[in-house]
Amino acid sequence: MRAMPSQSIHCCVTSPPYYGLRDYGVDGQIGLEETPEAYIARLVEVFREVRRVLKDDGTLWVNIGDSYAGNANSGGSNANEGGPAVRIAGLKPKRGEGVKQKDLLGIPWMLAFALRADGWYLRSEIIWHKPNPMPESVKDRPTKAHEQIFLLSKSPKYFYDADAVREPAQNRPFDPTLKAIKRHGTAWLNNAYAPGASGFGNHPNGRNRRSVWTVAPKPYKEAHFATFPPDLIKPCILAGCPEGGTVLDPFGGSGTTAQVAIENRRNAVLIELNIDYVELAQKRLARLAAISTAAPVADIATARARRAVPATKHTTELPLFAALSEGAA
Ligand SMILES: C[S@@+](CC[C@H](N)C(=O)[O-])C[C@H]1O[C@@H](n2cnc3c(N)ncnc32)[C@H](O)[C@@H]1O
Repeated sequence: MRAMPSQSIHCCVTSPPYYGLRDYGVDGQIGLEETPEAYIARLVEVFREVRRVLKDDGTLWVNIGDSYAGNANSGGSNANEGGPAVRIAGLKPKRGEGVKQKDLLGIPWMLAFALRADGWYLRSEIIWHKPNPMPESVKDRPTKAHEQIFLLSKSPKYFYDADAVREPAQNRPFDPTLKAIKRHGTAWLNNAYAPGASGFGNHPNGRNRRSVWTVAPKPYKEAHFATFPPDLIKPCILAGCPEGGTVLDPFGGSGTTAQVAIENRRNAVLIELNIDYVELAQKRLARLAAISTAAPVADIATARARRAVPATKHTTELPLFAALSEGAA
């Protein structure tokens, strides 16, 4: 990312590796830190660089799951990350200060607060409600059926196309009369109910998007890790990036972000540490190119540079950035 020009990206849609859940098989990967605090600190560093490459009116949409203190066998099963499990045998995420065995760590809000403290505007907590969550063998708490997506912006005013992501309104007819506008002003245009004969009606194109999104997890069949269901990130891309603009995913995985961006006439830049996943994303996007007439392009930073710049545990130069210095043209 350090090789990317500042202010070159309209919006970032991403899902970092969750804390203590998976071994992605590459040195320097994020998610296996000794403490939640160390994990959050690394993510803040990555997102600081995302802020630099974002345009001033750009947004960040970050999906992040939670984890329990302890390990899978001690009553503290880990986050509800979908997809085929490649769990890390014997990994016990260390507990942070004041955290007890079995405690929910609160990773999403730890990250949200840390990003806010680092200069981001924290604008929305979106709940991804999963109608078919991963089954859990717990008997002392409800089964987890949601994750968070945080919407953050670089500036207090930013690009957000509310009209592109309206949702069906519930009831009442739309009343566009001058009388209604005179009586109630136009603020209602953005809300669920517009003034109607009885005082309220609907916006003709639906109500302003709500903050709970119900989307079934949908693994990408060739990936052995959790992937975005395309329907989950489509609203993020439509609201956050104008047509012809560019979407960044610094944790590119199987390339879902690029696929949805291209299908919706946006460009994409992916960064991925694991060369196998880079190839997976390349194949997926090549298939898309074969069936699509869309002009947009996806650049994928390969992880080859990591061999030239091996990661050590203590370096602040993440392999992510090493990868970028070679890829992400
Ligand atoms: C949860 S997955 C993202 C999946 C993606 N949203 C999709 O739909 O396919 C997280 C990805 O981050 C990658 N990753 C882990 N540490 C990284 C790092 N330091 N730099 C870049 N990528 C990293 C992993 O290899 C993995 O592919």
